[in-house]
This record gives sequence, C-alpha cells and structure tokens, in this order.
Amino acid sequence: MTQDELKQAVARAAIEYVPQGIIGVGTGSTANFFIDELAKVKGRFDGAVASSEATAQRLKSHGISVYELNDVGELEIYVDGADEITKHMHMIKGGGGALTREKIVAACAKQFICLADASKLVDLLGNFPLPVEVIPMARSYVARELAKLGGQPRLREGFITDNGNVILDVVGLTIMNPVELETALNQIVGVVTNGLFALRPADVLLLGTADGVKTMK
Ligand code: A5P
Repeated sequence: MTQDELKQAVARAAIEYVPQGIIGVGTGSTANFFIDELAKVKGRFDGAVASSEATAQRLKSHGISVYELNDVGELEIYVDGADEITKHMHMIKGGGGALTREKIVAACAKQFICLADASKLVDLLGNFPLPVEVIPMARSYVARELAKLGGQPRLREGFITDNGNVILDVVGLTIMNPVELETALNQIVGVVTNGLFALRPADVLLLGTADGVKTMK
C-alpha cells in the first residue's frame, strides 16, 4: 500500500468516531482525506471547527458547515494527523504550519483522535524538525534562545501562518522529555506555540499499516 492509501484507510476508520454535533478538524494531507470521508456522511453531524484557513476552505467546498470556535462549546472530538507520534501519544505537529490553531482546537475537544500512517510512529521525537510559531519581531531573539537549548532553528522561508507569524523549524533537539521541553519552549517570550503536543497528547491513534488499521489508546 502507498502512504496515501494508508492515510485514506485511517481516514475511513475515523468516521466511526464522528458524533452528532460539531467536530474539530485538523490540517494536512491526512486531515484532507478525513474531510473527504466526512463529506460522504454529511447527514450524521452538524458541522466542523477548522484548524486552518485551508481546512475551512476544503470543508466548505464539500458543503460542510464551518463554525467559529468561539461560537461553539466543548467539542466531542478533534481529528488530525501528526508529523511524528510515540506510543505515549506525544506528537510533533505543525509541518503544515497550522500548529497554533491545531493546539487551540485540540484543547477544546474531549478526545484527540490522531490519524497516521505507520511511518509516523517513532520511539523518540525529534527527527522531524520541530516547528515553533513566533511573533515576527521576536524572530532573532527566539532563535538565539532555541540555540541555547541545543537546537538549530531555521526560518521557514516565504511562509506566514494564518495568524500572521513566522515559523522556526528546529533541528538537533534531543527530546527525551517532551512535556518538559514543550513547557520550556512556551516560556520563551515571542513564542506563540511550539509543535510539541505532549501536555495534551492524543487519546486514540489510528495507525495505518500494511496489515490494516491498528487502534492504540
Ligand atoms: C499541520 O500543521 C500539521 O500539524 C499536520 O497535521 C501534520 O503535519 C501531518 O500532516 P500530514 O497529514 O500531511 O502528514
């Protein structure tokens, strides 16, 4: 099976978790497959809160109602992909640059359902460069602080987030304790969010493998 076929398989499997009401929807190629599956069961739920402008556009293109997060209460589920995930359900996210809104929508959901193909499951986070969203005027300062933590930050050239900020992708970090590092990065003035999802890990992982979709909790 190709990586896309594995992503499609987990997207299909996630449909059984869709409750009535409004659901949170992530960003990226796996989330896009999930949106395409949602379009087939439109009558079963009321609509979605999007974690990015791109996701909002895709949802709307399928005729799915998109709600503002401030206008809805707690969400039953948030469904999204990941760039890396461990068996402890800690993740690196933000390869698509939507990490801040993803983290906000995930925080409002009772259950985070992560969809990933088998290549995303790792023993240790950090091979994938860790995205950090930064207020533009703080870029140089934050880069120096990240270097003090042992990372090598690189500006994501030509990219501005939906929130008008820049992304520093950090390589070289040894992420032995994701909760500690997520917390430390959040303390750097000028950092909006970092792509570690460890303080709020996934609750369910639907992992696409050659042997079928495996469910991990
Ligand atoms: C978007 O900002 C990311 O967090 C994505 O959810 C993550 O990068 C996974 O993307 P793919 O599904 O495209 O691999």
